[in-house]
Amino acid sequence: MRETFEPKKPKKQTTIYLIGFMASGKSTIGRLLARRLEVPWIDLDSMIAKREGATISEIFSERGEQYFRKAEAAELQNIQAAAVHRGAVVSTGGGAPCSTENLSLMKQTGIVIYLKVRARELLRRIGEGSSRPVFMKMKQHGNKQARAKKLLKSREPFYNQAHITLRNSRNRDPEEVVEYIAQKVAAGWTQPPYP
Ligand code: S3P
Repeated sequence: MRETFEPKKPKKQTTIYLIGFMASGKSTIGRLLARRLEVPWIDLDSMIAKREGATISEIFSERGEQYFRKAEAAELQNIQAAAVHRGAVVSTGGGAPCSTENLSLMKQTGIVIYLKVRARELLRRIGEGSSRPVFMKMKQHGNKQARAKKLLKSREPFYNQAHITLRNSRNRDPEEVVEYIAQKVAAGWTQPPYP
């Protein structure tokens, strides 16, 4: 019998959670990856904003970070339940996996991929943007950099528990990262437990 070498199509029911610090490329990679895997792309922050009828900045400034974190945890539960049969790529916010409950939920229901970017590169990207809600009260650039550094350090222990860590440095082509993940999914990253 002749063998055919058709590339394997990724299984559709896989849910992939992208985690990582602000500005690590979770949305860019998420959107492209969902298209590549032919599954819905879900952006956790957009879902929260839609449900709350307010932007993330408004939620932070008018209702506070604690309120936001509760909404974030609840939305993650909803998304997980909706994605369980058909799969999805979920781009999370930088703080979403930094709670034991959220992280275990993601790890039990999908593949968790940490998009890791060097601290210096992240700080540069964050420094450029003006209005990240977690830095809202900080006017000076130096202040923001110090807070970002501290935040990153406190979050790394959570990020490092992802099933897979992928370096997403400045000159890495997003399509290349997407293709890498897609091939791995096709090769069997489909069901827990993961390596
Ligand atoms: C946050 C990151 C944001 C958003 C919110 C809080 C954080 O998402 O969820 O502003 O605590 O790191 P991005 O990581 O997409 O910027």
